[in-house]
Amino acid sequence: MKLTYKSLAWLSLAAVLALSCAQTKTSDKPVYLDENQPIEARVEDALSRMTLEEKVKILHAQSKFSSAGVPRLGIPELWTTDGPHGIRPEVLWDEWRQAGWTNDSCVAFPALTALAATWNEDMSALYGKSIGEEARFREKDVLLGPGVNIYRTPLNGRNFEYMGEDPYLASKMVVPYIQEVQKNGVAVCVKHYALNNQETLRHQYDAVVDDRTLYEIYLPAFKAAVHEGGAWSIMGSYNLYKGQHVCHNQYLLNDILKNDWGFDGAVISDWGGCHDTDQAITNGLDLEFGTWTDGLTMGATNGYDSYHLADAYLERLRDGRASEEVLNDKARRVLRLIFRTAMRTDKPFGSLCSPEHYDAARQIADEGIVLLKNEASVLPLDATKPGRILVVGENALKMMTVGGGSSSLKVQKEIIPLDGIRAAAGKLQVDFERGYVGDVSGAYNGVVTGQDLSESRTADQLIADACAKAKDADAVIFIGGLNKARFQDCEDSDRFGLELPYNQDAVIEALAQINPNLAVVIISGNAVAMPWVDKVNSIVEAWYCGSQAGTALADVIFGKVNPSGKLPMTFPVRLEDNGAHALNAYDRKATSVEYKEGIFVGYRWAQKKDVKPLFAFGHGLSYTTFSYGEASVSKASIPANGTLTVSVDVTNAGEREGKEVVQLYIGDDEASVERPVMELKGFRKIALKPGETRKVSFTIEPDMLKFYDVNAADWALEKGTFTAYVGAASDDIRTQVSFEVK
Ligand code: GLC
Repeated sequence: MKLTYKSLAWLSLAAVLALSCAQTKTSDKPVYLDENQPIEARVEDALSRMTLEEKVKILHAQSKFSSAGVPRLGIPELWTTDGPHGIRPEVLWDEWRQAGWTNDSCVAFPALTALAATWNEDMSALYGKSIGEEARFREKDVLLGPGVNIYRTPLNGRNFEYMGEDPYLASKMVVPYIQEVQKNGVAVCVKHYALNNQETLRHQYDAVVDDRTLYEIYLPAFKAAVHEGGAWSIMGSYNLYKGQHVCHNQYLLNDILKNDWGFDGAVISDWGGCHDTDQAITNGLDLEFGTWTDGLTMGATNGYDSYHLADAYLERLRDGRASEEVLNDKARRVLRLIFRTAMRTDKPFGSLCSPEHYDAARQIADEGIVLLKNEASVLPLDATKPGRILVVGENALKMMTVGGGSSSLKVQKEIIPLDGIRAAAGKLQVDFERGYVGDVSGAYNGVVTGQDLSESRTADQLIADACAKAKDADAVIFIGGLNKARFQDCEDSDRFGLELPYNQDAVIEALAQINPNLAVVIISGNAVAMPWVDKVNSIVEAWYCGSQAGTALADVIFGKVNPSGKLPMTFPVRLEDNGAHALNAYDRKATSVEYKEGIFVGYRWAQKKDVKPLFAFGHGLSYTTFSYGEASVSKASIPANGTLTVSVDVTNAGEREGKEVVQLYIGDDEASVERPVMELKGFRKIALKPGETRKVSFTIEPDMLKFYDVNAADWALEKGTFTAYVGAASDDIRTQVSFEVK
């Protein structure tokens, strides 16, 4: 057949018709099963097909970590998993105990304090992509993380799971993680919304917080998670607010999260966070987990019908005490969560323990480790020349991925600091001394480290043995800090003080006297006191970095990586230098906790009171130095809805390439209310070669200048002068420039 334009036209028309028939062919499927249909249409169609019992059934757990689907309609169940740093090993149907699977070891990524300490949104994206792939491969639909509770007290046992003291930093660092996890068809469950800023009495304490503090400090990271991150689920916290448990709370869930913010996802209770049937029905809870199972030493095993959003709810629906409209809203939210995850067929398949995930863990750790002090250039050590170094401290060999609560993991491998250092030591001989005995356990929920940390020597003998070897070592690396034992960095318990535990101060003091070439490495998720700070030349905060902890620490110690981490929280000299403690507003026995320090959390308090911190928020050194030019503004004044640009040249003034986190803080010089001296409103991590200069610019927008006006119950911008501070830390401002809001 001779192909003419006319025949081509007929052919293409026939093709289009055939395709559209094929299209309508799939529409023979019920709408809720047709992935070409918009999700809302699918939700409505599914809802219209469900019975009352089926709608209630999907609102509560069916096992420790899963909830039912609708088997009759082929709507799959939801499988959730901890945690924020890696995928928790499988547990038995209705237990916290291990299921004993042999295919569920994972990569432990650095704790979220380490991620926040990178001040690098690309690291957050890499983190979310990697952990999302591990969750997907393990066939999980909801990842119970990340956590973004603000660091109010250095004693909070779960600070290691969160992103520090500043709402802007946490808001920026949580978003890419969320977006990348969810690209795998796995929902995040951002936690613990909200005001869960201590572990002491976590199920009982009522957080008493004024509105301005709530909106300026404790909500922004969750709001960013919803609005920028697009989080598909949020976890209610255990504590109370305004007398209601937050897992069913009119104010935080209905008024703010769902009505004001327009959150369209599902609110999932923390495990055992639901305490009242009527409140669970009316105050915004959508998916109830952890109630009345034996995991919380309450109720019967497999007692899922005794949940609040189960038989009790059905009863109220049948006798007219509960409305179907509210039921349908809950069911819609859970169905939306299912359609976004379990019921999606176009999901990637994920991967587990891949080289890429180990590289990601290492890269994030490399960028998160913070060089706090480095005089006399103790670091980096030179592994190319023969010599002898002594490593001292239990944390040099203690595995940290087991323990600490629900974020505990069963890793495929964990490179401990001592092994990482030995692998990278080159011509250096590496010796080890225990130095002190901390926590010799190594088990959680049936996962064991297998390490034998038993020790028979006395504390004095341990110090003597370490000092004997320190005498003629070319360098000494002390590796201590906290651990994941109860009352250290651990869920469901807070620390009792800021001090290092286990007599570590004595060990450090003794070593400092013997060898000035001493570097102290703190492995922790919290600030610690350092009474020996002036006697030690080098100090590193190495966080909990998971599977690649030892590799990354060695990268920094031997200079393979130039450290670029910055503190996401203030390290106070004393506990009383922290606002909550200065005002005696942290009380281990109080079931009503008034946040008396208000918005003055972290550096905001230190600057208000002019209290010099041990190490400031945003502090972190490099093996090179950076110089800053003078900041300039694109305009001297802007209208209330205007924007301007602040620019500054940053130069690498040293001998080696490095990354700097250029930080922008803004202060309101004439406000009708008391405001912090300055607040973080921008940061940029840049890599500079020796001698290289880069112009860094920040756009200042009106929202960055506002405060929450409790009288107007809204954000307010007042005219007057503001000052933009640009620097390398909150206490290291290199240049500043003022501007006017007309
Ligand atoms: C825990 C934690 C929460 C965790 C959940 C499931 O109590 O508070 O973060 O995701 O229960 O383990």
